[in-house]
Amino acid sequence: MRSSGAIAVALSVLALLGQALAFKANEFKTCSQSSFCQRLRNVPPEHKFVLRSDTVAADETGFVTAKIAVVGESAEGLYHDDLDFALAAYGDGVVRLKVSQPGRFEVPEVLMDDLKQVPLVSVSKTGSQQTLEFLDSKVVLTFDPIKVEVYGNKKSTSPTVVFNENGLFDFERQRKPGGASGSESWPETFGSHSDSRPNGPMGLSIDVHFPGVSHVFGIPERATAFSLKPTKELSSKGHTLHEPYRLYNLDVFEYLHDHPFGLYGSIPFITAKKSGSTSGAFWLNAAEMYVDVRKGGEGTSTQWVSESGVVDLFFFVGPEPKDVTRQYAAMTGTTQMPQLFSLGYHQCRWNYKDEEDVASVDRNFDLHGIPCDVIWLDIEHTDGKRYMTWDKAHFPTPEKMQGALEEKGRKMVTIVDPHIKKDDSYPVFKEASGKGYFVKKKDGTDFDGWCWPGSSMYLDMLDPEIRKWWATLFVPQAYKGSTESLYIWNDMNEPSVFNGPEITMHKDNLHHGGVEHREVHNIYGYLYHMATADGLVYRGQKSKAKPSDRAFVLSRAFFSGTQRVGPIWTGDNTADWDHLRVSIPMCLTLGVSGLTFSGADVGGFFGNPDTELLTRWYQLGIFYPFFRAHAHIDTKRREPWVHGEETMSRIRSAIQLRYSLMPYLYTLFHQAHKDGTPVMRPIWYEFPNQEAAYSTQDAFLFGQALLVSPVLEPGAKSVRVSLPGDDLWYDLLGEDVHDAKVSPSVDVAVTMDSIPVHLRGGTIVPRRMRPRRNTKAMTHDPYTIVVALDKVQEARGSVYVDDGSSFDYKEKRKFLRSTFVFKHYRLENDVYHNGLYFSNASTMVEKIVVRGLTKKISAIDAGRMTIKYFECTQDKSGLWTLVIKKPGLSLTENWSLKMRGH
Ligand code: GLC
Repeated sequence: MRSSGAIAVALSVLALLGQALAFKANEFKTCSQSSFCQRLRNVPPEHKFVLRSDTVAADETGFVTAKIAVVGESAEGLYHDDLDFALAAYGDGVVRLKVSQPGRFEVPEVLMDDLKQVPLVSVSKTGSQQTLEFLDSKVVLTFDPIKVEVYGNKKSTSPTVVFNENGLFDFERQRKPGGASGSESWPETFGSHSDSRPNGPMGLSIDVHFPGVSHVFGIPERATAFSLKPTKELSSKGHTLHEPYRLYNLDVFEYLHDHPFGLYGSIPFITAKKSGSTSGAFWLNAAEMYVDVRKGGEGTSTQWVSESGVVDLFFFVGPEPKDVTRQYAAMTGTTQMPQLFSLGYHQCRWNYKDEEDVASVDRNFDLHGIPCDVIWLDIEHTDGKRYMTWDKAHFPTPEKMQGALEEKGRKMVTIVDPHIKKDDSYPVFKEASGKGYFVKKKDGTDFDGWCWPGSSMYLDMLDPEIRKWWATLFVPQAYKGSTESLYIWNDMNEPSVFNGPEITMHKDNLHHGGVEHREVHNIYGYLYHMATADGLVYRGQKSKAKPSDRAFVLSRAFFSGTQRVGPIWTGDNTADWDHLRVSIPMCLTLGVSGLTFSGADVGGFFGNPDTELLTRWYQLGIFYPFFRAHAHIDTKRREPWVHGEETMSRIRSAIQLRYSLMPYLYTLFHQAHKDGTPVMRPIWYEFPNQEAAYSTQDAFLFGQALLVSPVLEPGAKSVRVSLPGDDLWYDLLGEDVHDAKVSPSVDVAVTMDSIPVHLRGGTIVPRRMRPRRNTKAMTHDPYTIVVALDKVQEARGSVYVDDGSSFDYKEKRKFLRSTFVFKHYRLENDVYHNGLYFSNASTMVEKIVVRGLTKKISAIDAGRMTIKYFECTQDKSGLWTLVIKKPGLSLTENWSLKMRGH
């Protein structure tokens, strides 16, 4: 964010805060500066928490409930109610554990409405333990002190995950105002800010142990290693405590490429991996949180401390990676099915200056034959940072501008931030202020903070009524100058408050229902994002011109559940090789945390990449699920054509490669939409027992079929490619074939043109090979089916097709799915579609390529017809590649090609 000579407001605020323009660790708290983290981290509780066995009972909703007695407390100043304990199980390997106290805040809007609870049946009880079973799994409760062991398999003797193994569970029950709280005073200061903490200490600590686990992943967002490094180390000399991982949505200026503290979004979900098993834990809590990771011979132990709220903990028993992502998705939802255009290339910059600038960028894409789907406008396009207005001098005819893009099948995205300029002549402010829609200070008056427009107010997105009102502002009648091909970018929604503590909002600010900001901080951005996306759906419902389409809203802040709303990007990175590299673990982490639709600013936001870095960034960025180039206002222009023919042609080839994989990518998103499978995957997701790959973060899988090993070093002449599994891998863009069993890693020579990608034997990838200006222009293009055989001459794959924009796929089941199987030298297509919708023209197969055949094909029989145009050539490995041209087949029909040869 900040730092522009042109941005007087920002500068004055920075001057006010005495900041220099670079990352400053002292702007942000560490654990030692947060009293709850100090009190709870690595400190066993003063009291013992005992599950009262006489109170264990099943309630009518299927929860098993009990009371937790707090034993041995020094009673002074504490409220004396027992804690409420509840346990539930959901189909498919999910156990939920709650510990709460009446009056505590519980996070709304995250869990799915239709959670499918299954009965927990008590099968044995002794004086010290009780065992409950559900489906194939079981839960063992130990009473004194409380411990909960979850077993993925009833027969197993070792638990998958254990709550309170190390006795660090703690629940600070509310104290009477003025009551004793040790030596700690309730108000807490940080820099010049004071947090009144009117409720006193009310922190929570949970202790989650994963037996036998060597690697844990997740708890985004931060720029750090994919396999989380320990923060707590035990050696013969005792404990070493490093800074714990922090979850607190913040606008971190010039973030470092390897640091544990939290960036713009938070997902309190961790995935644990060991050979033969994958499991997970998710804590639904939106307050500030710190997580420690300790690894030892017996497994991995984690401690999570949060400032307030309740314990609402979900355990996922796996056992495969795809089971854990599905189990988490069953609780928090799957990826929204995106519009096809949003998987194309997005061209952004802070800022395209005026309508002529936009027109020229648009023209240049066509002139140079570079595909692009979306052009973005940053904050300068507005009238004085009043969002949903236009700077009249530079954008006098916004509808015309959007119309010109739309004519070519391109969209526009404008930025809309949550801070509302304090200005009575600005209708959005006036109405929100009149209706009392802003977040309040602790004294009940409207909170006023600084952001891009100067003095601003922040909508209280916790209130459903306010979200509903916000959603109505996106119809063209309200958002003047907008058209239905305009989509939205939500930024600064952590929320960013330039003059607030840690550049955000005061924790004792008040939301709807008197809820303190501290309780909802990490969901604020998510709720805002949700309301904006609802706005675009609402716009569609109100439209007479066009059927309702799926929302597209990019957000910077996020929480669990954001995947249902739209994509996020990894914020303000820097144009250097470290940030290029760390974008991979960042996106992989988001992917295994349910939020697969993500990407980093291609090129790096701050600074000026040289042509080598820029080229390499595009060559990697084409595999980000969300693919957008963006740059800070102070940087030099760097659209793909700016650096001359050579660089441009490399960037063009990279972007064209992404577009050629669009049918495959869209199919991957549909999979993510169905069950939470990430698009960009760690190698262990597909090869779960390949321990050597658990910490790999310089290569990844793009779907099940493509292994991407990007060039991440300047001046690289080769890339070492590790090939997982024991089957064949085909160079996607060349002829080489490797047998992973014979050569588990190979050195691949690279030039500046190289994009090392390998196609996995046993998969089938649908492509569209004609270069076009955008996804819309590809609508009627024929398909190429690429079959990559494994060693037993088999392969499988599929393609999902719908109209790419409307809800008909859901409401009317208007979609097509072809499932391809190659076996016994027969390639078959088994199709589902409802017959109403797909013309043959848009679903023709123009080419079939089969790689890795062990025999030369001499005849192909397609039932009634015989395929005439095909060629079979042998490569240097001795395998044959068959290319069938114009087979006259359509995806809308079942067909079967029988191949004969010798
Ligand atoms: C924030 C965003 C950045 C944007 C800038 C101006 O820094 O992260 O992408 O360009 O604000 O809106």
